[in-house]
Amino acid sequence: EKVVLAYSGGLDTTAIIPWLKENFGYDVICCCVDCGQGNELDGLEERAKASGAAKLYIEDIVDEFAEDYIMPCVQAGAVYENKYLLGTSMARPVIAKKLVEIARKEGASAICHGATGKGNDQIRFELAIKALAPDLKIIAPWRMTDVWTMQSRDDEIEYCKKHGIDLPFDHSHSYSRDRNLWHISHEGLELEDPANEPNYDHMLVLGVTPEKAPDQDEYVTMTFEKGVPTSVNGKKMKVADIIRELNKLGGKHGIGIVDIVENRVVGMKSRGVYETPGGTILMEAHKQLEELVLDRATMEAKKDMGNKLSQVVYEGKWFTPLCDAIRAFVASTQEYVTGEVKFKLYKGNIIKAGTTSPYSLYNESLASFTTGDMYDHHDASGFITLFGLPLKVRAMKLMEAKEN
Ligand code: ARG
Ligand code: SIN
Repeated sequence: EKVVLAYSGGLDTTAIIPWLKENFGYDVICCCVDCGQGNELDGLEERAKASGAAKLYIEDIVDEFAEDYIMPCVQAGAVYENKYLLGTSMARPVIAKKLVEIARKEGASAICHGATGKGNDQIRFELAIKALAPDLKIIAPWRMTDVWTMQSRDDEIEYCKKHGIDLPFDHSHSYSRDRNLWHISHEGLELEDPANEPNYDHMLVLGVTPEKAPDQDEYVTMTFEKGVPTSVNGKKMKVADIIRELNKLGGKHGIGIVDIVENRVVGMKSRGVYETPGGTILMEAHKQLEELVLDRATMEAKKDMGNKLSQVVYEGKWFTPLCDAIRAFVASTQEYVTGEVKFKLYKGNIIKAGTTSPYSLYNESLASFTTGDMYDHHDASGFITLFGLPLKVRAMKLMEAKEN
């Protein structure tokens, strides 16, 4: 029997390989899904084989991740608890989808992941797998405390050694990190006490703090077509490359560093730092354009939908009817989100520097003080009479009550 293991090459998922063989007798098909984690993929093939894997798949899904998972969240303006741009949350369903595809191709009967029993990731992986392949068994070693007895990195290294796996693993304790095209998250070490200031010099991977950013600002121009970014500084690029480019620019200028105590699905609060340099710019630029082209009522409804989507995505409910429906709503609002935005980056700030769109609803003569024939000031009197009627009625009633 075969099991597909979500494999990163790190110590945790490596130790799972001999553990699956020893405890279940599985053939272990490792699957590393590349959502843009960078150089962490070097030497993976040798590592997997040396650890006893029957096979290793490396699936590059960066473009699918960017276009079908990141962009819907950008267009919705989905931000969890007003701060977290959902980098890890968005990646889990697409990873799960690939794991299921490989499981089908290999005729595997189970999928195994290395997420802990205290976190959100276990929920996201498992909800996605259930939605796509309800017949597959899910194995979560970290929750199987009767058979999974390793408690620390040293235990895992020891276990690997005992099973003939002698790989260079880091003893040193670092942050718990998750990186992809969109972001990198940091948890653990000094962050575990919210009283502590983050040790940014030691932590940051994608950029610098605003204090260390250049004193010189930098202008950036972006174009969008129907809500999708199409170019940066005049260079046409696919979405994934645009995010890469914005990551460089944002990292350099100290953009998108977030320090948050967030509410996990499993009930506890957890403290983390996220770097989302390019994502922060992309979401801001998209919003800058929407300000110009969306009507007021749509914008208002969209804010609620975006907020709802952030919850749905955070909770791992990507493959659900509700998620589909919200995405359909958001998609239909993007028809006219086409145009050019200009802004400058300066020490952690994104400062608007001009927006244009062929579909701009901004009407200069309407907004300025010269009276045109589209707007008669006198119309405002009647409007305010009706608009203010309920609060006037209430105020009169309260006055009357006071007098009696
Ligand atoms: N707390 C964030 C989330 O729930 C980030 C989780 C990071 N995951 C990890 N395996 N290090 O989305
Ligand atoms: C984990 O527990 O595997 C990482 C943290 C999280 O999922 O929230």
